[in-house]
Amino acid sequence: MSNQNPIGIFDSGIGGLTVLKEVAQILPAEQIIYFADSARVPYGDKSKEEILDFVSQIIDFLLSKNVKAIVMACNTSSALAMPLFKEKLKIPILGMIHPAAREVLKITKNKRIGVMANPVTVKSKAYIQEISKYNHGALIYQASCPELVPLIEQNKLESLKLKEVLNEYLKPLLKENIDTLILACTHYPLIKEKVKEVVGEKIYLLDPAYFAAKELKEILKAKKQLNLQKKSPDKFFTTGNIEAFKLLAEYFLNDKLKFVKKVYF
Ligand code: DGL
Repeated sequence: MSNQNPIGIFDSGIGGLTVLKEVAQILPAEQIIYFADSARVPYGDKSKEEILDFVSQIIDFLLSKNVKAIVMACNTSSALAMPLFKEKLKIPILGMIHPAAREVLKITKNKRIGVMANPVTVKSKAYIQEISKYNHGALIYQASCPELVPLIEQNKLESLKLKEVLNEYLKPLLKENIDTLILACTHYPLIKEKVKEVVGEKIYLLDPAYFAAKELKEILKAKKQLNLQKKSPDKFFTTGNIEAFKLLAEYFLNDKLKFVKKVYF
């Protein structure tokens, strides 16, 4: 495997772009192949079997592009599929949950942690299990947020509906006196300011993306696979509508996408 091979990053939609941004910042010489399963977003209302199937197709696609590492920039996939693929793959694969769980205990002071995520991630209890590996005493309160991803994918960031559901989902967490809130869906950093408006300035909002990107760098460095050459342009693939994806992605990345292609499974 050459160190010039790209890194594969995938999500159900545009959420993983928040991870791509961090990876691009921390590893500026790396070429990224980004995959958005926009035709099947959200994953939050799918069954475990469906999600495992989707993830398997996406990983096969990324492997066909000769990626040297894969980032599951999707908490849902990380919660359900990580153990299976970690065992199966010959290249490094990392998700969102482990890096966030490792860091959150350094940040929280009162050990009362909130996790906001879609229903599938909440039901998996993956964050509770992972954080408990490091600290048995931490109290973790989850908030299931089914409507956020569809609203974000429709770019309804300024809608009244978004405000309403955020209030409804997050108010119960505030009663638990949490001091840290994990944004346990890669779409949520896109509405970080809106979340802040509901929870206030005192609660630390933890975005796992930065810690995942740091962990990726450590892994590639240890394997002597960091790209030291000049970066090739990133490539974007989507199962959904190219124009719709491009519009949103360019808006959030604040950059023009040079290569976007549709994938049919
Ligand atoms: N952005 C993904 C996550 O981090 C998927 C959200 C969804 O499709 O429901 O979980």
